[in-house]
Amino acid sequence: MEMINHFDLTNYVLLTILLAILPLFTTCYEIRAIENLRSLEMLSLTIGAGPESLAFDPSGGGPYTGVSNGRVLKWKGGDLGWVEFAFNSNHRDEECGVYNNEMMESKCGRPLGLQFHKATGDLYIADAYLGLLTVGPEGGPMTLVAAVADGVPFNFTNGVDIDQDTGMVYFTDSSIHFQRREYMMLVLSGDASGRLMRYDPATKRVTVLENGLTFPNGLVVSHDNTHLLVAMTSPCRILKYWLRGPRTGTFETFAELPGYPDNIKRNSKGEYWVALGQEKIQLNGLQKRVANFEPMLDHPIALRLSQEGRVLEVLDGGIMTSISEVEERNGSLWLGSVVSPYVGVYEA
Ligand SMILES: *[C@@H]1O[C@H](CO)[C@@H](O)[C@H](O)[C@H]1NC(C)=O
Ligand SMILES: *[C@@H]1O[C@H](CO)[C@@H](O)[C@H](O)[C@H]1NC(C)=O
Repeated sequence: MEMINHFDLTNYVLLTILLAILPLFTTCYEIRAIENLRSLEMLSLTIGAGPESLAFDPSGGGPYTGVSNGRVLKWKGGDLGWVEFAFNSNHRDEECGVYNNEMMESKCGRPLGLQFHKATGDLYIADAYLGLLTVGPEGGPMTLVAAVADGVPFNFTNGVDIDQDTGMVYFTDSSIHFQRREYMMLVLSGDASGRLMRYDPATKRVTVLENGLTFPNGLVVSHDNTHLLVAMTSPCRILKYWLRGPRTGTFETFAELPGYPDNIKRNSKGEYWVALGQEKIQLNGLQKRVANFEPMLDHPIALRLSQEGRVLEVLDGGIMTSISEVEERNGSLWLGSVVSPYVGVYEA
């Protein structure tokens, strides 16, 4: 921890650049296609900003998204646009305001991962500062599910997904030491205190499945519920964690990525969309020098991966940057971003 206090700006900038470049030299994958998507529609937010994660409710309504002032909003479409759906116990209108204010987020909360439990309609929220929260299908005040495991408080609750068969809730704490607004320090320090956890709604118990992870972020349950995929942000890697079968409780590498993964979501074919964070996107010139990179890879903002972890498609950024999530629905791609003031929708 001590080193962090002595970091001067020059080191910070140099290391940031170095970190952005490093993963480029460790990548090797196959590209099948780069889809040419037509229109990008922007669903502008009127409350807060930075729709990090998206979720559709069990009847297909939404999407829902968590924004910078701690609220969860629901997209109603048409003239209604975004409406407030749920809020946490700390929300205070004057203090939390409508704008992105990183100084306030530890108080106001910052919802990141979102997922519905289809059988109950309950929405689970991984709030970076407040922990794992839930709210019923009608919305309103969120309830705290957990903020500590094995006596150690979460400091950066991040991704959540649910095994819809068992109702088990899987979630990540990216670090026990660093908070969300210190994510760059988390990366630079090489912190490996992240955790993968499971919450059982029947017993209300939280189990730590794995300690000592390096920046675990988004996660997703596989289509057959046999494993989880966990996006490891600073290692630029997706890990597979077995939930069933002979390898239960063990990790293996699922995919190496050309950028920093954020959230990972499954489409209806059981494939995955992995959103890549912003740092890599600006490195046009550098990427071209690396063998195996196609020229079109200038602005990779997301990848579609097969069930085996092969890259099937690279989504080129266009004007959208800092993508945190891609959710595919009926052929449309809904794009979340931790900074943008809108949710993007690419129509098929
Ligand atoms: C959690 O983060 C805060 C803010 O950086 C820090 O003060 C605190 O020490 C962290 N908790 C642990 C256990 O490191
Ligand atoms: C997807 O398409 C089906 C069938 O056309 C429709 O019922 C459903 O509402 C659509 N979902 C979304 C999110 O547009």
